[in-house]
Order: sequence, then C-alpha cells, then structure tokens
Amino acid sequence: MSIAITYHGHATFSLDIDGTKVVVDPFFAPNNPLATVKQEAISADYILQTHGHGDHIADTVPLAKRTGATVIANFEIVNWLGSKGVDNTHPMHIGGGYKHPFAHVKMTHAIHGSGLPDGSYGGNPGGFLLTTDSTRIYIAGDTALYSDMALTGAHGIDVAIIPIGDNFTMGPDDALLALGYLKPKVVIPCHYNTWPYIEVDVNGWADRVSAETDVKPIVMTVEQTYQL
Ligand code: NI
Ligand code: MN
Repeated sequence: MSIAITYHGHATFSLDIDGTKVVVDPFFAPNNPLATVKQEAISADYILQTHGHGDHIADTVPLAKRTGATVIANFEIVNWLGSKGVDNTHPMHIGGGYKHPFAHVKMTHAIHGSGLPDGSYGGNPGGFLLTTDSTRIYIAGDTALYSDMALTGAHGIDVAIIPIGDNFTMGPDDALLALGYLKPKVVIPCHYNTWPYIEVDVNGWADRVSAETDVKPIVMTVEQTYQL
C-alpha cells in the first residue's frame, strides 16, 4: 500500500492512499496565509471535515462542487453543506466508524468549537482515525489535550497529525504530553505560524520530541510530501 501526505499549510493536508485523494480541512490560497496552492488546483475523491471553523472549511464547498468529492463530516455540517448545494456527503458522528473503500474512518473526540462561518450550528468538533490494511493515521483536528487520546492510540498509530500552535488548540507543551498518550511512530505538527496568535518555535518543539520521546517528528514545509 502506498500512502503519501502533502501539507498545504495550517491544518490542510492531502492524503494519497493508493491513488485515492483525501483532502483534510480544505483551506487554500488566498484564504490560507500559508498556502501557495488554490483550491482550483487540488484533486479530491473524499474530503474529511473535522469541524466548522472557517480556517478548516473555507474551501470545502467549492472544492466539493468542482470535484464531486464525498465530504465526510459530522451530521450537522453535512446538513449545512446540503443547504449550500453539496449533496455528496457522508454523515457520521463521534465514536462512530465506517469502512470506506480507501480506509476505515472513525470520528474521534476533540475539545474545541465547531460554529460554521455563517453562524450556523456545526455540531461537535472531531478528529479522524484512518485505518488501512497497513497503516493507522490519526488526524486530531483542533483540540485541547485530553487523556483519552490514549484510547485512540490503544491499537498503535503510525502517523499522528496534531495541532501545536497554542491559543486555539494544544500548545507545544500539551502536544508533547499528547504524544505520551497517543504513542505514534511519527508526528506531523500543524495549526501553527499561520497568524501571530499561533506563532511557535516548531523546530525547537521537534527537537524536544526527539530528545524526550521515541516519536519521530516530521516538520513539513508547505507543499512538501511525506511518503510513508
Ligand atoms: Ni477551529
Ligand atoms: Mn483552526
């Protein structure tokens, strides 16, 4: 099985899982200050939506309409997407999982908000645990640290994508504690250095991960691809 993860800046990633394109939290240029690529240049078969905040959903509707990708999101966000003309959706909710052709996708808990850009109710925020034949990938979404992350990591995680930017989510110290619960082989930090509120020393954090844990940190530059 071939899996590649491309970082688009902030909390937006594209996963290529044996040729299936899975976009996480579409937020591209020019809306995303870190992104260099526009939504129009992205291919998608599936979209994973962790929550309703604008820095995660700004480009979901145009991307879904242009590509016809199936949007996997909580029930409330799926309803909202329907009101915007996006009907190719898969509703789910926290604690539930479903076997899609590219992976089993489980929606995990997140401690955060999920209000949609127009003020609509976006349900509860979440993250995703993807399990393929060979690999388990955890996308935390925007969240505070919580000790039940240990349950998400109970069966082993190959790659964890976690926020470290502080202010709106876990900061560097809590993200380090999170690794103790998740115990992934590899960690990819996100949700940092997009705006002044979330500026952190990412390389200093990666050095701490290497020194204090058994986890391998991968700090990605924008549009870099990490091949598993
Ligand atoms: Ni958020
Ligand atoms: Mn966010």
